[in-house]
Amino acid sequence: MWWLKAVAISLSVCAVLGGRDFPPEFIFGAASAAYQVEGAWNVNDKSLSIWDYFAHTYPEKIIDRSTGDVACDSYYKWKTDIELASKMGLHFYRFSISWPRLLPSGFPNYISEDGKRYYNNIINTLLEKRIQPVVTLYHFDLPQSLQDLGGWTNPLIADWFANYARVAFSLFGDRVKIWITLNEPISFCDIAYNVGTQAPGYISPGVGNYICNKNTMLAHAKAYRVYDKEFRSKQNGKVSLSNQFFWLEPDTKSDEQAAENARQLMVGMYSHPIFSKQGGWPPVIERIIAEKSKEEGFPYSRLPAFTEEEIELVKGTYDFMGFNFYTSRTVRNAKPGEEIGAWPFEGGPDINIILGVRGEWNNTDAWWLYITPDGIRKLLGWLKKEYGDIEFLITENGCASSSPDVDDEVRVQYYKEHLEQVLVSINEDKVRVTGYTAWTLMDNYEWTDGYSIKFGLHYVDFNDPNRTRTPRASAEYYASVVKSHSLDVNNKIIDEL
Ligand code: NOJ
Repeated sequence: MWWLKAVAISLSVCAVLGGRDFPPEFIFGAASAAYQVEGAWNVNDKSLSIWDYFAHTYPEKIIDRSTGDVACDSYYKWKTDIELASKMGLHFYRFSISWPRLLPSGFPNYISEDGKRYYNNIINTLLEKRIQPVVTLYHFDLPQSLQDLGGWTNPLIADWFANYARVAFSLFGDRVKIWITLNEPISFCDIAYNVGTQAPGYISPGVGNYICNKNTMLAHAKAYRVYDKEFRSKQNGKVSLSNQFFWLEPDTKSDEQAAENARQLMVGMYSHPIFSKQGGWPPVIERIIAEKSKEEGFPYSRLPAFTEEEIELVKGTYDFMGFNFYTSRTVRNAKPGEEIGAWPFEGGPDINIILGVRGEWNNTDAWWLYITPDGIRKLLGWLKKEYGDIEFLITENGCASSSPDVDDEVRVQYYKEHLEQVLVSINEDKVRVTGYTAWTLMDNYEWTDGYSIKFGLHYVDFNDPNRTRTPRASAEYYASVVKSHSLDVNNKIIDEL
């Protein structure tokens, strides 16, 4: 196979860098998310999510004017999905629960029997196949009824979310041992409120995003405390959240402070409150936004403060750190008077920086995704330095393409190079990475990119009512890594594929 040559080259790289095998307890999985795969948007008693509403109401915001109404049809085809995961020998499958499918009112006054049955079926069948369920509670699909009450900008959402989490822990926690509370708050806070290309589509730059940010921290923390108090002793699971982090590096030597500020804005805002010893906002960002707000005539900071009690509530609410990694950016100081685009895509108006890319980084068909495998190692090193010797679970990593081609050489290469860097991080930098998740099991609804951008280990034919799934070369490659538990992919396994 063509990728054997690539594997052979990687063997020599790894041999030099120290070891090709993953630690014995290291786990491999793949991920998906409810709105991106399930479809069945109005089946039984499921209520509308903000993504149902967003895609139906603003078709012009979606590149191909598509919706997740059917998506991969996983509401009906979940058994096929599990079969794909099983054939690849995955240790775990990360999927998300649709809040409006389980709790149609958004509140725990009524639990949908259909929702309960659907997720029980998935969890039980995964376990029968010896695949561990890793469950995300929130992957962008808030019940629209809660959005109508302000959604993530209403402070009451911390309790709404904790109440939803309690239902999920009590229904499924006897079998689910790894929970992710929130997926990528940076997407549904910063991208949503600064840029508007995430539901709910209401733009409030520099205000809405920070209110949302604070409420996500409290929501996560309250859910974690519910688990601690009511479930941990019986269920013995682990709980964290997953944000997406770019690796952010200085454009030139003189931009080091700018890059550090950008890391604190991207990573720190969703990590410092939880993972640092002091808790609360990253001090440098708190100070800068307070100063900026003052200059703008605000009698208080646009960044809502945490009370002492809230700092204590949030601090330490983790059993590991989950994060998604795709790409990197350069950071430079903005020139005087230079216009600064929206965070986190173009720049950081509040911290006076501009984001960029290096000429030598290869782009993919997703405009934002440049291939920078060494970024994952640098990021892991920075996270360890910043938050200590904690456990890391990589909850997403993957490569975009607009091509349906099953000979996805670039994606194979992407996985191989990122896994190599993860190994170096474990072996050389002694970072405690315990698992890796490929995004994604199969092509699915890529938010405002609709079906035009594909990340799948499996190709999905969206023109076929059966939504046929076909393994790509990357699925075969990844399966061989999982089976040999090594980048030294066993030739015997390759022959079998
Ligand atoms: C991260 C998100 O969690 C996921 O939903 C999305 O499809 C991937 N990034 C790729 O953009």
